[in-house]
Amino acid sequence: MPIIDKLQSMEILDSRGRPTIWARCTLADGACADASVPSGASTGSAEALELRDGDRNRYRGLGCTRAVANVIGPIQERLRGRDFPDQQSLDRAMLELDGTANKSNLGANALLAVSIAFARACAASRHVPLYSHLADIAGHDGRTLPRLTVNLFSGGKHAGGQVCIQDVLLVPASAGTINQGLAMVWAVYQSAAELCLRKYNTRALKADEGGLAPPFASTEDMLKDAVEAISAAGYQPGRDIALAVDVASSHFYENGDYHFDGQRLSSGRMIDLIARWIEQYPLVSVEDALSEEDWANWPALRQAIGQKAMVLGDDFLCTNPARIRRAIDSRSANALLLKVNQIGTLSEAAEALRLARSAGWRITISARSGETEDNWLADLSVGWGGDQIKVGSINQSERLAKYNRLLQIESQTHWPVVNWPA
Ligand code: PGA
Ligand code: ZN
Repeated sequence: MPIIDKLQSMEILDSRGRPTIWARCTLADGACADASVPSGASTGSAEALELRDGDRNRYRGLGCTRAVANVIGPIQERLRGRDFPDQQSLDRAMLELDGTANKSNLGANALLAVSIAFARACAASRHVPLYSHLADIAGHDGRTLPRLTVNLFSGGKHAGGQVCIQDVLLVPASAGTINQGLAMVWAVYQSAAELCLRKYNTRALKADEGGLAPPFASTEDMLKDAVEAISAAGYQPGRDIALAVDVASSHFYENGDYHFDGQRLSSGRMIDLIARWIEQYPLVSVEDALSEEDWANWPALRQAIGQKAMVLGDDFLCTNPARIRRAIDSRSANALLLKVNQIGTLSEAAEALRLARSAGWRITISARSGETEDNWLADLSVGWGGDQIKVGSINQSERLAKYNRLLQIESQTHWPVVNWPA
């Protein structure tokens, strides 16, 4: 039985150079493991609270020393010497100690660092790979690897806001392996970088997640250029490499309208626009096409495009079981973008996963725009049977840590990439 002997924690820096939290969990049997927590920029308003210091004189208020102190102090006091037979009992003890719905007391970042470090320590204690242990936590018994969705072009809050939508991603649909998928995506990324130089006269300027961010005149150009880059690399758009988009529309939604490429669009016109994109471009997945507040119109969105593409909720659902339940009941989406730190503990995220799966939804396991070199997300995407993984582009170490871990898992398991039609 895992007994916690010691918790350690410190403030570290993420890929944007902003503070985040690291923790180490040591069990009584000597097993010991670390975990670092990522952080979003394009966040949903229903996300659990990420505790920041608020001291304007240090990291402009973004310091995480209070979260660190909560791990070393009250969380450790509550957990130390106690026996936690499973992940749920550990997470429940922390939730009780926090006592708030959005983790504002101890901080979701503090809770998640401990939650993941504990899971990893338990995996080490059981001498099983982290993905196997995570599969046991979620009750998943599949043996597949997720399909890659890799950022090619960026806009919105992750770039300079030159276009309002956030990501255009490559989906290497014909790739049977992670290894093959990465090589295909790499080739397209190179042709896209050349295209940027030729068309926009910009060298490869990159956004937070490593996507290229030239000054596109419009969102439509962003999609056209993505198709052109796929063809230029020698692949057939749609058949070999499809596209996904994260519209991240909550960030340009104001007073019931979408402020899109210089126009004001109603929800209905926004849905028409997305439906037209689905006809014109090889899109297999559309994330946050409507705002997190626009509950009334999500069912029509799903109705319009749900047969042809994943209708993914990120900010809309916030990995929150209550929001997912409401979306299932109202037939508002057909896929969940799962980010563990939106909710704060592994057990709650596992509940979100189970709920979405029970409705037949697809799952995309996602990183955040502020990441660390920690690679636990790769294990999570395999252990929890993700249909897709969304990590960012293929050129920054905090992203490559996850891709390289997927390659490692692939070489150890020889499991196939999950198979579903593009
Ligand atoms: P975030 O963005 O990590 O900044 O929230 C990622 C996303 O919107 O998918
Ligand atoms: Zn998103």
